[in-house]
Amino acid sequence: MMVCEYKPGLEGIPAAQSSISYVDGQKGILEYRGIRIEELAEKSTFLETAYLLIWGELPSKEELEAFEHEIRHHRRIKYRIRDMMKSFPESGHPMDALQASAAALGLFYSLRDLHNPAYIRDSVVRLIATIPTMVAAFQLMRKGNDPVRPRDDLDYSANFLYMLNEQEPDPLAAKIFDICLILHVEHTMNASTFSARVTASTLTDPYAVVASAVGTLGGPLHGGANEEVIQMLEEIGSVENVRPYVEELIQRKAKIMGFGHRVYKVKDPRATILQNLAEQLFAKFGADKYYDIAQEVERVVEEKLGSKGIYPNVDFYSGLVYRKMGIPTDLFTPIFAIARVAGWLAHWKEQLAENRIFRPTQVYNGKHDITYTPIDQR
Ligand SMILES: CC(C)(COP(=O)(O)OP(=O)(O)OC[C@H]1O[C@@H](n2cnc3c(N)ncnc32)[C@H](O)[C@@H]1OP(=O)(O)O)[C@@H](O)C(=O)NCCC(=O)NCCS
Repeated sequence: MMVCEYKPGLEGIPAAQSSISYVDGQKGILEYRGIRIEELAEKSTFLETAYLLIWGELPSKEELEAFEHEIRHHRRIKYRIRDMMKSFPESGHPMDALQASAAALGLFYSLRDLHNPAYIRDSVVRLIATIPTMVAAFQLMRKGNDPVRPRDDLDYSANFLYMLNEQEPDPLAAKIFDICLILHVEHTMNASTFSARVTASTLTDPYAVVASAVGTLGGPLHGGANEEVIQMLEEIGSVENVRPYVEELIQRKAKIMGFGHRVYKVKDPRATILQNLAEQLFAKFGADKYYDIAQEVERVVEEKLGSKGIYPNVDFYSGLVYRKMGIPTDLFTPIFAIARVAGWLAHWKEQLAENRIFRPTQVYNGKHDITYTPIDQR
């Protein structure tokens, strides 16, 4: 039998062939279906980009209108899901609430017809449409309020911000939020996407696929880092404190949150776009001292660790953008999930098209031929 070298974290080992997205970590390039992220952020919308990723081509005007129409009319959640969510503890993390709710959707749509394009489309529409409603509903219910019904006259991002804050958002804030979703929708074979593909490969339903990916996204080394960036900036507290704080972290070999990436060895192109969006928000709604602190952190980290390829990643500036929009810190990762669900679904569809169940091997490093010791002799 062939003996393969064990690579912790499967670093550098291809887990799938995929035509969904591409990263060049040396040049700082990210493409969705061959289109640069900068171009999509400037010209597209989240739903159009989701369509592109899932069906492989930009939609025609009619196709996009039909897709948007379907999403708009599937945003409501069943009252039983809402009642189930009401019984969740308000102290629970919204990612856990989202994972449970996404899995529960599968109870209502248990018919599994994976070879039927209509089933694929219905599942895609239902998941993209209801995940934001579930995130907003949990947020209101944990504050003791009733969830707000989605508004059919608002587009995808404006409706989410409306459901979250119970008021219509500023158009610039809604536009910037939509761009944030584009920036987070897909990123090659990361941990949650891998998790989605492993689950998909068993031919289970798409709700289980998304629920397992949500669970994976929740960890601080993946989607949870932008929460920790905000905590770090608050702890630093002033521009003068930045240098000693960063030096102390480097000295004890601690990780600086929002920096470093397995693939990017230059500044993440999404961080550059997010920084620009943050500046637009500050110009309209007032400056934020944490942005000054963040810029100084970037300067000091680049000076100290730039030679190692440690630069800001997507999480460094996204928290500042969401914070300026008044979004609570523990909703940052659920918002990441609202975007990434479309990427996971693109991988679900791609996995089904040429499926083989994931069944890797392991390097056994345990014992052999041990005799059983009766309990009274241990
Ligand atoms: C994202 C991350 C997990 C990538 O990890 P990785 O590819 O395994 O990178 P490594 O841990 O092998 O890092 C390589 C070197 O850079 C250092 N490094 C990596 N990220 C660092 C960071 N954020 N701060 C300080 N040093 C860092 C490592 O300590 C290591 O140094 P060494 O060679 O002296 O041991 C890692 O950079 C990290 O934990 N970042 C902070 C969390 C974060 O922002 N996550 C969001 C990712 S989008």
